[in-house]
Amino acid sequence: MSTMSNQSSVTVVTLAQQKQVGEKIVCLTAYDATFAALMADAGVEVILVGDSLGNVVQGHDSTLPVRIYDMVYHAAAVSRAKPRSLIVVDMPFQSYVTPEQALQQAARLMSRGGAQMVKLEGGKTFAVTIETLVAQGIPVCAHLGLLPQSVHQQGGYHVQGKSADDAATIEEDARIVEASGASMLVLECVPSELAASISQQLTIPVIGIGAGPDCDGQVLVMHDLLGIVAGKRPRFVKNFLAGGGSVQGAFEAYVQAVKDGSFPASEHSFPGS
Ligand code: KIV
Repeated sequence: MSTMSNQSSVTVVTLAQQKQVGEKIVCLTAYDATFAALMADAGVEVILVGDSLGNVVQGHDSTLPVRIYDMVYHAAAVSRAKPRSLIVVDMPFQSYVTPEQALQQAARLMSRGGAQMVKLEGGKTFAVTIETLVAQGIPVCAHLGLLPQSVHQQGGYHVQGKSADDAATIEEDARIVEASGASMLVLECVPSELAASISQQLTIPVIGIGAGPDCDGQVLVMHDLLGIVAGKRPRFVKNFLAGGGSVQGAFEAYVQAVKDGSFPASEHSFPGS
């Protein structure tokens, strides 16, 4: 199934090579050792210890209450599984207000949590922060589009980049985070055409969630993939456990569907305006 990343541990170099040869990158969130080991065995290349743990593990209604301590705790649990997947860990709300604070907190995520890359939400505002982290040997994944940590500023959880102006801002931010040294970009809930254009322009891998089929890879929140979240299911989510399979089978089905391009389908994507 996966070719480039079958044998050894996945690194930023592996991901860059996958983009170059057009092999889709499979990413999934995990918050503990057991699930991390299962998904790594299924072929998930990037494990994201997302601050979505505020919602799906801690029971909050946003990611805002999540603290750096929580991220270190869950990242360390995931690292103990020693997955061959690359471990990316979210910097939580207000933990990267200045470049100096970001450096201190990212260092905790790496040295105590076992993070191999950190993720932060935002574009050009964080250019210097990204440069600072990268200069200290800390790989960075940027996150644009719907920004859960800015839910109150964005007025809820809505598709971003629908107007020409908003799309141009996201596109500019994407170019800036790449120029600042980011190794990867997550694009959340943007029209498929915008995500396709950004994925084509950037040399770094672009991982989509609700961003259509033409990104370099896909990410989902594990609980969404397993269909175990109460309430209304977002459009971009597919329940891979449906049909009576096992958890391991669901992870394998997700890996297969991302690799062969059958997920996300148009019903999981957002068209342009
Ligand atoms: O926190 C998280 O799980 C995320 C994904 C939704 C990309 O940032």
